[in-house]
Amino acid sequence: MSLALPTQPGPIGIFDSGYGGLTILNEIQKALPGYDYIYLGDNARTPYGTRSFDIVYEFTLQAVRRLFELGCHLVILACNTASAKALRSIQTRDLPQLDPARRVLGVIRPTIEYVGHLTQSRHIGVLGTTGTIKSESYVLELHKLFPDIQVIGQACPMWVPLVEYNEAHGDGADYFVQKYIHTLLKQDDRIDTVILGCTHYPLLLPKIKQYMPADIAIVAQGELVAQSLKDYLRRHPEMDTRCTRGAHCTYYTTESEEKFAESASTFLKQNIEVHHIDLNEY
Ligand code: DGL
Repeated sequence: MSLALPTQPGPIGIFDSGYGGLTILNEIQKALPGYDYIYLGDNARTPYGTRSFDIVYEFTLQAVRRLFELGCHLVILACNTASAKALRSIQTRDLPQLDPARRVLGVIRPTIEYVGHLTQSRHIGVLGTTGTIKSESYVLELHKLFPDIQVIGQACPMWVPLVEYNEAHGDGADYFVQKYIHTLLKQDDRIDTVILGCTHYPLLLPKIKQYMPADIAIVAQGELVAQSLKDYLRRHPEMDTRCTRGAHCTYYTTESEEKFAESASTFLKQNIEVHHIDLNEY
């Protein structure tokens, strides 16, 4: 399907498979409050973490094309699974055809740059979805920049459903939070830094803190991705001028508008404007 892309400046697009990317959006809005944003959550097809490479790539590309069509020149994949499984193909294969001047950025690279300078023991743990951990993206990308770092990945397949079904603070969450942290740390007792490599996980932070030993640094991505975006826009004035500033955010979901507005409001603590969107034909 060929796209008629608007050429005038537009909002920054933030994409996630569901609600998790709201933790990134929140921090981006704090760091860059004047800009306009579109948040797109593929809630109808979440979770992505257990899906194949081809499917995550197909779904993510559909979302990127739609965000471009809605006027975005810059899209952030605020989803580790999409960043791990789709970003590279979109950057190298699709962007040159869609519009070589538009940009799609992920969350893994800024996280790695940050933790590489944080760890003292040079032993890092990564908690993520099954897809992110199996892709080995964190290991590969970390070793490109910091070959001396040992990385242990641990998939936490129950954590996204706990968040998506609003059970992050329930008693049932304790069992699964403790279980994956314990399994990770059992594999390497020198880990001093643990990456929350999924945008949903900061929503489980109170329980994660409860079960993580106090001397281990827990790295959530929101703030560091926001700082990295701020830095990117400073270094790329040609992109900065293509981002509109009206301090407005519009939300799109592939699920029902009411359901998204209700759940998202509890994360964002404000009332929001939500539109339904269908990605299947993109
Ligand atoms: N929020 C996504 C991530 O950061 C994954 C959630 C899902 O499995 O859809 O990896």
